[in-house]
Amino acid sequence: MTDELFTRTEIEQSAQYIAQRTQYKPTIGLILGSGLSPLADEIAAADVLDYGDIPNFPVSTVEGHTGELVIGNLSGQVVLAMRGRAHYYEGYSMQRVTLPVRTMRALGIETLVVTNAAGGVNSDFRAGNLMLITDHINLVGMAGLNPLRGPNDDSLGPRFPDMTHAYDPALGEQARQAAKAMGLELREGVYAMLAGPSYESPADIRFLQMIGADAVGMSTVPEVIVARHGGMRVLGLSLISNSLATGHEKVSHEEVLAAGRAAAPRLAELIKCVLAGS
Ligand code: HPA
Repeated sequence: MTDELFTRTEIEQSAQYIAQRTQYKPTIGLILGSGLSPLADEIAAADVLDYGDIPNFPVSTVEGHTGELVIGNLSGQVVLAMRGRAHYYEGYSMQRVTLPVRTMRALGIETLVVTNAAGGVNSDFRAGNLMLITDHINLVGMAGLNPLRGPNDDSLGPRFPDMTHAYDPALGEQARQAAKAMGLELREGVYAMLAGPSYESPADIRFLQMIGADAVGMSTVPEVIVARHGGMRVLGLSLISNSLATGHEKVSHEEVLAAGRAAAPRLAELIKCVLAGS
């Protein structure tokens, strides 16, 4: 099967559609995960666009993921926030899931803040913890589903991009300092991506623990790969919405959303503090 591919021209169409409908020139992209959409409410004097109106954009079909771009001021920075994201498990290609990140890059955005709700695999983690993503395990990519599969457009990025510092060490340090200044506990760890939408079996969780994952989710990694391909700096933050550590806790989407809503104010404060300092 041939993968869906977006040409530079198509990416620029999406970017132009946005640029023509906002007074702002955003420099920071923000992807808000499950239950974390309220953060976008804090963006002042925002221009709001529906994903459904933007050429080529995927529209999330999942509850808790509204599909709006919110562009405006947040803590002294001009941000373009995605209120909700599309996932691979919804049936979109990896290329379409990551098209919004390509579009951000085409708009001149060089920093991406990516958030998600994730299951805690590390037995020290508790539901409600925030985790700085220090690295990821691309399980889905190892199985062949990489958003960069297919012909490479060298004008977008290199054929074989390096993933050594996928999560920018300096931005990570800024997040640590911001958390410290706020008196906020910030865990750190490795995020593993599974395609979903089924949650992990107890054996999956034991496997994830063995390979060194601290948290697991169904997003983020393809977006980060495309961001790095385009030379963007990435800050990744997970909300640990539920603990999986014993391998026997049942998970529900409602629980994940509720944990997201409960933690959204803390995550918002942390992101605002990082933005204010950058
Ligand atoms: N597993 C996978 N994805 C998730 C989870 C989980 O337990 N919680 C939130 N997203």
